[in-house]
Amino acid sequence: MAIRSIRKIGDSILEKKCKEIKEMTDKTRDLIQDMFETMYDANGVGLAAPQVGILKQLFVVDIGDGVRYVCINPKIEAVGEEEQCGEEGCLSVPGKEGIVTRPMKIEVKALDQNMQEYTLEASGFLARAFSHENDHLNGILYTEKVEGELEDVVYEELDEEEVI
Ligand code: NI
Repeated sequence: MAIRSIRKIGDSILEKKCKEIKEMTDKTRDLIQDMFETMYDANGVGLAAPQVGILKQLFVVDIGDGVRYVCINPKIEAVGEEEQCGEEGCLSVPGKEGIVTRPMKIEVKALDQNMQEYTLEASGFLARAFSHENDHLNGILYTEKVEGELEDVVYEELDEEEVI
């Protein structure tokens, strides 16, 4: 396993659409392990493959609910009309945060690390994390969706930030 370098805003790879993963390979297995290691090292709760320079439809999420989510070729849809409005940060946009509106509930259809299909309903912060990571696969950063100003994160608050 290895910690990979995280691409930062301004890097054009973060603006590109990712390609579907057709089959699981040793290389992709290593990538998944490295992405978890890189995410934990950076104190993030989500990381998408383009953030480590790989244009594949893959992201990982761990918000501390006891599950290490691996999402391959995800399809995400809002469930219901309810929305949530809250602060968001991103490992590719260090030191910043902003207010983003996301669906309160979503349905995720994806493949896991064994290329097995699964369906998951997520709400609250988990829905926010999945929505944020899914945007990365479409070349979209949360900075495009921020309402109002992008704010500087105050150093003392850093430990409490949940950076996706
Ligand atoms: Ni992000």
